[in-house]
Amino acid sequence: MNNFEFKNPTKIIFGKNQIAKIANELPRNAKVLLLYGGGSIKRNGIYDKVKLALSEFDVLEFEGIPPNPEYQVLLNALKIIKEEKITYLLGVGGGSVIDGTKFLSAAALYEGKTPWDILEKKIRTIKGIPFGTVLTLPATGSEMNSGAVISRAETKQKLSMGGSGLFPEFSILDPEVVYSIPYHQISNGLADSFTHVLEQYITYPIGAVLQDRFSESILQTIIETAPRILEDKTDYKAASNFMWSCTMALNGLIQKGVPTDWAIHGMGHELTALFGIDHACTLAILTPSHYYYNLETKKEKLAQYAERVWGVTFGSIEEKAIKGIEKTERFFKDIGISTKLSDYTNNYKGAAQTIANTFEERGWVGMGEHKKISPKDIEKIIEMAY
Ligand code: NZQ
Ligand code: ZN
Repeated sequence: MNNFEFKNPTKIIFGKNQIAKIANELPRNAKVLLLYGGGSIKRNGIYDKVKLALSEFDVLEFEGIPPNPEYQVLLNALKIIKEEKITYLLGVGGGSVIDGTKFLSAAALYEGKTPWDILEKKIRTIKGIPFGTVLTLPATGSEMNSGAVISRAETKQKLSMGGSGLFPEFSILDPEVVYSIPYHQISNGLADSFTHVLEQYITYPIGAVLQDRFSESILQTIIETAPRILEDKTDYKAASNFMWSCTMALNGLIQKGVPTDWAIHGMGHELTALFGIDHACTLAILTPSHYYYNLETKKEKLAQYAERVWGVTFGSIEEKAIKGIEKTERFFKDIGISTKLSDYTNNYKGAAQTIANTFEERGWVGMGEHKKISPKDIEKIIEMAY
């Protein structure tokens, strides 16, 4: 196992009827900016519960953070934070609202002129203004990690940021929020969390036995829960297991002491930036080709995955590894997500080269756990996903 340090300061408040507890977590004199998305929280009753919990506080609101949180929109919220001297942010939504809240937390204290530099120049945030979240869509794990991904339509960029100052102080995880999520967003959450585990697990063996078992147990839980939650999203047991799996998949625990990949996410963000494809769908598109292309370096972990997670008992290491990839692709399809780029856009030709060029320009010339996947490889992987 590799050396590691692990600190996750986010307080999780999990279960039914927990939203009222926001009031216990905020400083008494906080001036709060409540941030949310396109209005789903007004239709499903979450907004009313949050407002009730905030009734004793000084609260302003910012509505309209879009999926793939947009820089220009966030700048409007930043203006309010500065003009109104906001001291606490509360993001109520899925990964997009929470990521937008993290950007604002960092940008509010950023002393440079252009907050986009935080993303473009990869400036780590050690201190932001404090924030909490109410998660409404299990998927990204953003509710318990310190990363965010922000889009800028003007330049077709989608870049990540983060830093130890960007953990939420608290996150409310009420599985009943799942009841109102549209079918395809539940599928997205399943595919995103599943791929988060894969990116931290399908690398090469390093003897981190417990980490492997953590990853395998999350994958197995997602596989077991998927048909139940897709059949009945008001099944509380399924909703709670779905929600906690998504959080555990990317709260930092399973990546400690092990190599990680993240090339699928790196390529996927570019597909979203170019075509607006949902984040989770980009992962389903790229995962099979990424694993076929890198079979040689990943086959031992792929075979272990096939064996332990999917129960594949026959064949050589290579045969089991291939079975593991086939099972993964089948899983995405079974939850209703297509795995070919051409299912999402007719303009796919040339995408591979465009993305490879972007990687080259950014100096992303060694991706993956071995830091050896070149832009030329990226081009081939994406072509395989057409
Ligand atoms: O905007 P509203 O009206 O809230 O509607 C949202 C949105 O349209 C809707 N929704 C959310 N909760 C709902 C609901 N509808 C009904 N009932 C509810 N309870 O769902 C739509 C999608 O929401 P979004 O927040 O965009 O989805 P998700 O949670 O999948 O987040 C995706 C974003 O997170 C980033 C992605 O790149 C993407 O930008 N990621 C963030 C990560 C992180 N911070 O750690 C890691 C991930 O790999 C990912 O990159
Ligand atoms: Zn993801």
